[in-house]
Amino acid sequence: MYKIGIWTEQNLGHPKTWYGSSRAVAYSLLEVGQPPTNQDIERFGRTIKTVRLSSGSHRTTYAGRFCDLDELATSVLKRSFAPNYPLRICDLGTSDALVCSEWALTLLSLWTNSTVVASDHRFYLICGRRSNSEAVIFEQGGAPLQFIRPPFVVPLDHAERWFYFGNRIMSWWGARVADPLRDIVRGLSWDPIFDSRVQRVGGWEFRQISLLHPSARALMRTSARFTIQEHNAFDELAEPCEVIRILNLYNKELFTSETITDGLRAVFRSLTDGGMLILGRTIEVGKPRNEVSIFTKRLGAFTVVERLGGGSELEQLVLSRVP
Ligand SMILES: C[S@@+](CC[C@H](N)C(=O)[O-])C[C@H]1O[C@@H](n2cnc3c(N)ncnc32)[C@H](O)[C@@H]1O
Repeated sequence: MYKIGIWTEQNLGHPKTWYGSSRAVAYSLLEVGQPPTNQDIERFGRTIKTVRLSSGSHRTTYAGRFCDLDELATSVLKRSFAPNYPLRICDLGTSDALVCSEWALTLLSLWTNSTVVASDHRFYLICGRRSNSEAVIFEQGGAPLQFIRPPFVVPLDHAERWFYFGNRIMSWWGARVADPLRDIVRGLSWDPIFDSRVQRVGGWEFRQISLLHPSARALMRTSARFTIQEHNAFDELAEPCEVIRILNLYNKELFTSETITDGLRAVFRSLTDGGMLILGRTIEVGKPRNEVSIFTKRLGAFTVVERLGGGSELEQLVLSRVP
């Protein structure tokens, strides 16, 4: 048995097979024109939700995800910081930076000297093409993620279920194609935020596929106070800031308690006294809801100042182990 993938915009309307199984979406559908059309933006939004990196972490995010949280967090900030205060806000693990840019619009207009930094450790994929009929998608570090040979779109970083043996054979073939390209991909250098060059090596054409939402990129171009930077969310920031937001990243299913604790201690050190940590996740069962805690750092410890949806599942860890 086999299942075909989704490699064109038209196919995006049929995300499931006859048996209700999800069809793999080609990450090449993230490519948008310059300037992007509304159709490009719509296609990007549908595709980014399906992107899974080799670490097992997803890029899942979507417009309006944190409307309720943005309102609450803004009201907490208003209580502590005057409108002319040079507030620095950092969103860690920002994915495509869309939800960060949505909040940034409010923050930048209310705090006229503020700056907002959206950061992540991955901002692009690399697409290698040899012909119109075959492409390999690599992660930033060179790990092969996906092989596209229409009508197949198959993963290269994990196995399909055994009964899709047609897809498994295609994955095996894709891995053979991708393997000799790994070193080439590792050797290519790109601007991490945006690079439209095509690099040609050994009969292959490589181009960058940006994982940044076109609206976030547009805000970055129009406001010098909104920037996008590479940063490992478990490391201390180079410059301290007043607000750090970590949503849907510190997660006990993906990271050990020790790793999360180390990350939280780095966050603690990165905050100024009186600064704020916004930590939580979105529960996606049924109607999505956010479970978030807002902490302040004062007198060498965190205290909870607000909760949304019952608070973060990591609240006790923060209060008992940090700093
Ligand atoms: C599920 S997304 C969450 C996106 C956004 N914060 C939201 O809640 O809508 C998790 C993000 O964390 C990023 N990530 C995973 N490990 C990271 C690390 N060590 N440093 C920075 N970002 C990381 C992933 O690349 C991904 O973009």
